[in-house]
Amino acid sequence: MSRQILVTGATGAVGRQVASQLLEAGAGVRALTRGTADLPSAVEGVRGDLSRPGSLDGAAEGVEAVFLVWPFASVEGLEPVLRTAAGHARRVVYLSSAAVRDHEREAERLIARSGLEWTILRPHAFAANTLRWAEQIRARGVVRGPYGRAAMSPVHERDIAAVAVRALTRDGHAGAVYELTGPHSLTQAEQARVIGEVIGEPVHWEEAPAQDARREMLARGWPAEVVDGILSAQAEMAGGPAPVTATVEQVTGSGARTFRAWVAEHAHAFRRRDHRADGPLPAGRPPR
Ligand SMILES: NC(=O)c1ccc[n+]([C@@H]2O[C@H](COP(=O)([O-])OP(=O)(O)OC[C@H]3O[C@@H](n4cnc5c(N)ncnc54)[C@H](OP(=O)(O)O)[C@@H]3O)[C@@H](O)[C@H]2O)c1
Repeated sequence: MSRQILVTGATGAVGRQVASQLLEAGAGVRALTRGTADLPSAVEGVRGDLSRPGSLDGAAEGVEAVFLVWPFASVEGLEPVLRTAAGHARRVVYLSSAAVRDHEREAERLIARSGLEWTILRPHAFAANTLRWAEQIRARGVVRGPYGRAAMSPVHERDIAAVAVRALTRDGHAGAVYELTGPHSLTQAEQARVIGEVIGEPVHWEEAPAQDARREMLARGWPAEVVDGILSAQAEMAGGPAPVTATVEQVTGSGARTFRAWVAEHAHAFRRRDHRADGPLPAGRPPR
């Protein structure tokens, strides 16, 4: 029987890739989801909500390893989840963050004390974050925001997943903390430019005062401390290039994918709909 691995966050940017790469590697995949997720048919879906007590009861039975996404800004409820996991599984791979905010540091500490073999992944900004710009790029060929000079080394979610799959299925990764980046440091304005180059339509960065961005995020209902945290991190990132690590290549044997390659895979999300050969016509335009 193939090894069974429990994937949490399996509908998310990284978890979805972890599930499909585990299947390719011949492992059995059980996914904990809150809803009726659209997952590959070979994945065994199990209903569960990590914010509720007992969420892993049953789901962890018979699994060898757990891929853990903890999508909350607090570790409340994490200890019982780890206890259940440790009662069944041997390993846990936790998707932390290079920012290592307080709750992530605390989660890492609890995981290290859980009795499970653990591996911590600390990715930098996901390339997939730029999908948040897609609507304004499609509408106006512009990304308006603060700190266009903020630099990051966007990492492809498939590379994060490839590292996770190695750590979930092979020996030699216990106790490792992997800081994961893409291969290049790019400012936000440069990322916008690369998107334009790949889709063949110019995309410009339009600098907006930080106060405007703050007001917009607050109006969307984001808590003030989260908004201020984002803006002060971006201000800091404008101070120079972002770090680049060789960890993806060291762990997987393949170099980290470029941001340009990520955009090429997602170009349809950024192209104006009326430029897509296969896409729907924009609203209001009569069919020919
Ligand atoms: N975005 C970045 O640049 C970045 C960088 C470093 C680290 N990270 C970390 O990576 C993790 C994923 O980040 P993301 O924002 O990109 O997430 P995402 O792709 O939106 O995925 C979040 C996942 O968590 C699941 N989820 C949410 N609430 C849940 C609950 N109560 N019970 C069970 N599952 C739940 C979601 O499933 P359903 O909604 O389908 O139930 C979804 O599969 C986060 O912990 C984040 O801090 C992100």
